[in-house]
Amino acid sequence: MTVVPFSQALRERTWSSHGASEGAGFMTELMQGKGTRNDYVALVAQHYFIYEALEAVARGMADDPIASAFVSPKLTRLPAIEADLDFLLGDGWRAQISPLPTTQRYVDRIKETATWNGGFIAHHYTRYLGDLSGGQHIGRLMQRHFGFDTNGILFYIFDEIASPDAFKETYREQLDAVDWSAEERERVIDEVVLAYRFNTELFDDLSAAKAAA
Ligand code: HEM
Repeated sequence: MTVVPFSQALRERTWSSHGASEGAGFMTELMQGKGTRNDYVALVAQHYFIYEALEAVARGMADDPIASAFVSPKLTRLPAIEADLDFLLGDGWRAQISPLPTTQRYVDRIKETATWNGGFIAHHYTRYLGDLSGGQHIGRLMQRHFGFDTNGILFYIFDEIASPDAFKETYREQLDAVDWSAEERERVIDEVVLAYRFNTELFDDLSAAKAAA
C-alpha cells in the first residue's frame, strides 16, 4: 500500500478550496489590472489585522513541541505590512483602517488556535505557503500595475528566504514529520478548508465594500 504523505493529502484535499479563493472576483480583477490602487490598499489593510493575530499566536507557540518547528522569523510579515501601509496611506494610516466583518471572524478564529497547535499550523500553512507560492506572482503583478518599486509590496518580499521553493519543500517535510493521529490530521485539513473559506469570503467583503463606496 502506498502511503500518501500528509503534505500531499493536505494539498489535494484542500485544492478545490484554494481554487475558490484564487478565483474570487476581487482578486481576479486586481491581477488582471482592472483593480484600482485603492482596492489594493484595502487588501493590504486587511492583511494587517490577519498577520497581527497570526504572528501574535506564533510568538506564543515559540516553545510548543510541534508548532515551534514551523515558526520562523524569516516569515514574519507584520513589519513589512506596516511599512507598506505607511507608504501607501502615509502617517496616521492606523486610524484609517478597520477590519471587515470576515476579517474580524478570521482573526477571532486564528486567536482561538492559541490553545491548539494543529489549528495554528493550519492557519500558518494557508497564509505563508500561499504567500510563498501565488503570492510571489501577485506581488510582481501589483508592482507592474501600480508602478511600485519595493515600497508598497514589501509584504511579498521575503528577503531572508533565498529560495521559496526550497523553503516550501522543507516546510512540507516538517508537516510530514509531525506525529499526528489520523483524527488530528483530519482536523487540520478541515481547518485549512476553513482558512481558505475566510480568504474567499474576505474577497467577497472587499468587493461589497468597493460596490458600496
Ligand atoms: C489569485 C490568487 C492566487 C493565485 C494565482 C495562486 C496561485 C498558486 C499557485 C500557482 C500555487 C502552487 C505553487 C506550488 O506548487 O508550489 C499555490 C499554492 C498555494 N496557495 Fe495560492 N494562489 C492564489 C491565492 C491564494 C490564497 C488567497 C491563498 C490563501 C490565503 C492561497 C494559498 C496557497 C497555499 C497554502 C499554497 C500551497 C499549497 C501546497 O503546495 O501545499 N493562495 N497558489
